[in-house]
Amino acid sequence: MRSAKDFFAPLAVGAPPPPREIPWRPSRMIHFFDPSNEKMAAKLPQIIPRVDVLLGNLEDGVRADNKIVARENLIKIVDGADFGETQFWIRLNSLDSPWGLDDLLTLVPAIGENLDVVMVPKVQGAEDIHYVDRLLAQLEAKAGLSRPVLVHAILETARGVANVEEICAASPRMQGLSLGPADLAADRRMKTTRVGGGHPGYLVRQDPRPDDPAAVRATFQQDPWHYTLARMVDACAANGIMPYYGPFGDIADVLACEDQFRNAFLLGCVGAWSLHPVQIDIAKKVFSPEPADVEWAKRVVAAMGDGTGAVMVDGTMQDDASVKQCRVILTLATRLAA
Ligand code: GLV
Ligand code: MG
Repeated sequence: MRSAKDFFAPLAVGAPPPPREIPWRPSRMIHFFDPSNEKMAAKLPQIIPRVDVLLGNLEDGVRADNKIVARENLIKIVDGADFGETQFWIRLNSLDSPWGLDDLLTLVPAIGENLDVVMVPKVQGAEDIHYVDRLLAQLEAKAGLSRPVLVHAILETARGVANVEEICAASPRMQGLSLGPADLAADRRMKTTRVGGGHPGYLVRQDPRPDDPAAVRATFQQDPWHYTLARMVDACAANGIMPYYGPFGDIADVLACEDQFRNAFLLGCVGAWSLHPVQIDIAKKVFSPEPADVEWAKRVVAAMGDGTGAVMVDGTMQDDASVKQCRVILTLATRLAA
């Protein structure tokens, strides 16, 4: 394993850029916990083996008068934890809060060897990532960490959405991006009060029937997050990093949660946040390819031989491009099975 220093060693003039060495690891659910909540912390030994990523949250959701205790508890929790294959991430306080800098200064030296990814909220542009990147480089060097801490940004401001491409490209540490629908809704002056999901008022109504203008007209609810999610997925794919849905706040509505997560999966996302244990299995199911889709993909790949040309499979035309889609599904299934 290359050291953090090697990973970010300055390039000699004319040298090719270093290969991205962010190893693929499953991250179907990023499971949030509040380190200042002792009851939640006590359940972690049961939670850790069930999740791909465990995240200690220091930002929104943690009371202002608990910020320091959350940070201190986090160090104790990590000290005594057995993470096995599970990744450990933290969500920093925002860079314009009184706590964001101290979160990094305290936690990287204390838990850096266990820290896979730092999630940075309310990222506005590349400058926020550069700031965190430079601090991490210093803190890693000082602590002598053996591998770089990666960075994940939350897309939750209008400026952040406008700058999404430069955010993705801002550092080789960039691991991925999550949609932050609650803060984004507020920043955009949307008129919703939910955390993710749809709204019954955001709909399209069927046109009137010319032969019966008084007939009841059906309405179809629309997804207010489609635009941002699609934009985020494109920016991530273009920069080789991973997109995530983010939070779904209506814990009791498991059906709608599954639908939102599935839309995100179909559009290209690799995972979502789980805010409650009930959302862990939803994310695991949704962000793993369906066995029937894997079988179909295998049939198409087999039928296409060297992957070029066109064939008919069960009455559908398959060609070079459909084979590529099938390989996306097969690669994910193989990686998750490994
Ligand atoms: C998440 O942080 C959100 O604001 O939705
Ligand atoms: Mg937020």
